[in-house]
Amino acid sequence: VCVLIPTMGNKVRGRNLFSESKDGTTRIRGRVNNLTPGLHGFHIHQYGDLTDRTGKSAGGHFNPEGHDHAGPDSEKRHAGDLGNIEANDDGVARVDVTVKGLRVHFVLGRSIVVHAGKDDLKSQPSGDAGPRVAVGVIGIRQPAVDNK
Ligand code: CU
Ligand code: ZN
Repeated sequence: VCVLIPTMGNKVRGRNLFSESKDGTTRIRGRVNNLTPGLHGFHIHQYGDLTDRTGKSAGGHFNPEGHDHAGPDSEKRHAGDLGNIEANDDGVARVDVTVKGLRVHFVLGRSIVVHAGKDDLKSQPSGDAGPRVAVGVIGIRQPAVDNK
């Protein structure tokens, strides 16, 4: 589970659940609230360190293979490149991303970052997606907590 909390000066919150199938494909599902309508960069960042209130201590995109930044459909990309989520007019984004070759145990203890702007899927090093508006650590879910 990844519970997203707002960075300093923001109100964006959310929750996402990771599930991995046997072939090593991971599905990330959830929702993010209080966004501005439109597209927002959505990535797995290297560190689950929320020390810095602006989200900076989460580091760059999770990139164990040393590739350039790209979109989730590119063959060569950061493993953490999940592309964009899209918020409706109420500021709510439904998340449902399927990522090949992402094993959950490699990202436990890392983070998800939501950005103020759109990831253009090509600018280096991180898609020019703007400030970090919410961040959360990818942790182990308490099974008794409801799953909505
Ligand atoms: Cu990011
Ligand atoms: Zn990237």
